[in-house]
Amino acid sequence: MYWKSFLAITAIAPNVNAAGATLRFSCSQLTVERLDPIINAGVVGSPHLHQIVGGNAFNASMSGDVSTQATCTSCTPTEDFPNYWTATLFFRARNGTFKRVNTLGNPLGFGAATGGQTVYYLSSGKVTAFKPGFRMTVGDPSIRTDSGLKKYPQLQFTCLQTSTTRTGYQDNSRFFYETYWDTTPFNNKAEWPVDGSQPFVWSFGDVTGYGNHADYVFGWKGDALQRAMDANCNSDLFTNSINCATLKTQTIQQANQCTKSAVVNDNLGGWLTELPGGVKVNRL
Ligand SMILES: *[C@@H]1O[C@H](CO)[C@@H](O)[C@H](O)[C@H]1NC(C)=O
Ligand SMILES: *[C@@H]1O[C@H](CO)[C@@H](O)[C@H](O)[C@H]1NC(C)=O
Repeated sequence: MYWKSFLAITAIAPNVNAAGATLRFSCSQLTVERLDPIINAGVVGSPHLHQIVGGNAFNASMSGDVSTQATCTSCTPTEDFPNYWTATLFFRARNGTFKRVNTLGNPLGFGAATGGQTVYYLSSGKVTAFKPGFRMTVGDPSIRTDSGLKKYPQLQFTCLQTSTTRTGYQDNSRFFYETYWDTTPFNNKAEWPVDGSQPFVWSFGDVTGYGNHADYVFGWKGDALQRAMDANCNSDLFTNSINCATLKTQTIQQANQCTKSAVVNDNLGGWLTELPGGVKVNRL
């Protein structure tokens, strides 16, 4: 079983009558870190763990035009220095210990990526790109009910029978990202909870999945995103490369080289007796 969490953020209002851009590309994992420059700006050691992709200017107090501060990006467009992040997922074994679930490069074309996310910028008609300093979040880590999540219809999960199954997915956003979680190391049901409940828990202690959330700090260099949108750039569905004369790109292997070591000293390997940051599993 693979578990893909699909995080969508609606951000740009489309003009549905005109042609548009469908930019889809890979962002490898930059770092896994207990920082959150939006919700816990300036705090080294945010309450829960995140997995982050994008430019290497990512830090607790990042601000301003981050495209001028980053020296590399884990995304394939080389002028794409934003940061995109989500919480991380853990498996909780029957004996109560936790193991981190890794992300996978998207098996639909980006399998060479060291985990991370697939990012989509879509438009139909003229759109205006975000400005330096722009940031946004979707979802709320304190939600534990279906009715609570109704405020955020953009957040979706898909359980994949094979690594490429896609079913029932509906989206009308402009901008979204998706994360593949590789749950295959945890297929042994003898390790799952005795009461038959599902064994996965988000880094913020959520076993329901309703508290799923995602964050974004804009950071495209200069007018690169605007140029790509204006040129109706798209991604080739067969080669998975970007068809866009105006955007410079690097290979996934080059993007994999852009990483950042964690500044918060959490033990993230092996079986853990508690979630990073001492987060308690809770249904609230
Ligand atoms: C974090 O980034 C900001 C700019 O975005 C910079 O001024 C600051 O020095 C950085 N902090 C660290 C600890 O690297
Ligand atoms: C807890 O369970 C996991 C999965 O079965 C196992 O690998 C680990 O050794 C166990 N840890 C302890 C302390 O029993």
